[in-house]
Amino acid sequence: MRVEIVEPKLFAGTIADELVALIGEAVEERGVCTMALAGGKTPGQVYRSLSLPPRVQDISWEKVKLFLGDERWVSHDDSHSNFRMVNEALLSHLRGAKPKVFNVDTNQSSAAEGAALYASTIEREVPKGPSGYPTIDIMILGLGEDGHTASLFPGSELLRSDPNVFCGYAKNPHDNSDRVTMLPSLIKAARSVMFIVKGMNKAEIVRQILEGSDSDERYPARMYVDIADKVTWFLDSEAASKIDAGKFS
Ligand code: 6PG
Repeated sequence: MRVEIVEPKLFAGTIADELVALIGEAVEERGVCTMALAGGKTPGQVYRSLSLPPRVQDISWEKVKLFLGDERWVSHDDSHSNFRMVNEALLSHLRGAKPKVFNVDTNQSSAAEGAALYASTIEREVPKGPSGYPTIDIMILGLGEDGHTASLFPGSELLRSDPNVFCGYAKNPHDNSDRVTMLPSLIKAARSVMFIVKGMNKAEIVRQILEGSDSDERYPARMYVDIADKVTWFLDSEAASKIDAGKFS
């Protein structure tokens, strides 16, 4: 596992540079890059950095397939929509080649239907890897203050879902809103998993996740432990302020 601690002003560019490299490797090796994007507020500046020169020209966008690690069960023009955030930060700025974007279809009759349809989309569009599972090249995840990641919340039954089921639906316990989310087996099958966390408000949960020993039942982001060899944590100096950085260098 890698932990990269970055000054706030360099945070987005540092992560964007890593993504440019990872996308290039995937395209070089397999002719395509599949990338699942995190939602929430943190990653927008990273996605925007990918949409600007010089990085925007360094990516073969026509060979990129974009997915969402999770989505709120709202229309794509709703201010809470993760797709809307990705569109505003990245997609709407791309003038030349464009990635293929595979969204959660929030027009389905329920989040359950949406999750089932998204799972079939992923099985169709994401090539299987050595594990036999659809193997996303780059899985970008955020971290909630309660230790959730994607829309896998503490104590959720989704944490113990059938490993052959790749998407599920849940309620956000904080506001009872419906979510569709990629499930642990799909996340863990990814070639590269990147957590991006910034802000002083995340310092305590980062300490719990990286230095604690709780189960992923308590803190779902702790699932990284099972796949630590392919996980990178990008923390800004505030989010990293309560960990012993020397342990991870
Ligand atoms: C979402 C996310 C969620 C997010 C964390 C952190 O749909 O909200 O996927 O898992 O990554 O809640 O959110 P912030 O970046 O807004 O702190």
